[in-house]
Amino acid sequence: MMENEQLLLLEQLSRQIDPEQVPALVADYHKMITKYNCALREVRTKFEVLNDELSIKSNRNPIHAIHTRIKNPKSIMDKLARKNLPFSLTAVQNELNDVAGIRVICDFVDDIYEIAEMLLKQDDIRLIQCKDYIRNPKPNGYRSYHMIIEIPVFFSDGKELLKVEVQLRTIAMDFWASLEHEMKYKKDLPPEESASISNNLLECATTIAKMDANMQEIKNKIYPR
Ligand code: GTP
Ligand code: MG
Repeated sequence: MMENEQLLLLEQLSRQIDPEQVPALVADYHKMITKYNCALREVRTKFEVLNDELSIKSNRNPIHAIHTRIKNPKSIMDKLARKNLPFSLTAVQNELNDVAGIRVICDFVDDIYEIAEMLLKQDDIRLIQCKDYIRNPKPNGYRSYHMIIEIPVFFSDGKELLKVEVQLRTIAMDFWASLEHEMKYKKDLPPEESASISNNLLECATTIAKMDANMQEIKNKIYPR
């Protein structure tokens, strides 16, 4: 964990619990984050292995990029507060599904479903939750395939099951989601303007979905099954 993140965590914790317990809790927090980082490495490797294998089999790489992130302490504390949960590492591990997140950006829509299926076939992966925002986009136009999975990670004193949030999307979906996310936070606009921007973003999302469908058709002609 970065120094300033630790300080922030310390400050927030000291307001909630006995200050004497804070250093031990911070040490345990650090240990927990390290574990989530290991889980992310395991899941990343699984996607990289699939990508390598598919590139030999079909002469192309279905995965364009992989990004991982660990939720920062402030977002973790805010989310626990939103859910009316006290701060404890047990609450973090049991109640939050998105402490560890991995985003897999694929070339084509079909790649997403293929890769998700291949991952879920692996017998150490347990699917906890799945949301298909590609077949059922959010009202604002957001598209992606989300899974919460659980993966065992082996440490010196045994195995631990850790949850990881997986987001699979195409390059085009990622383009839309990244810009929409950036602009969501710049919303001190009058309501009419804000509504018109939302409409516009929804139109962009629809255009992008059509483009993804066209690209998929082109791909099917170039690489027939
Ligand atoms: P959180 O409580 O916000 O973590 O989400 P949730 O439990 O309702 O889960 P959901 O699967 O809907 O969303 C999880 C993640 O997907 C978010 O943290 C974002 O990374 C991404 N996401 C969901 N909806 C949107 C959206 O409308 N726009 C963008 N840019 N990203 C989104
Ligand atoms: Mg989240």
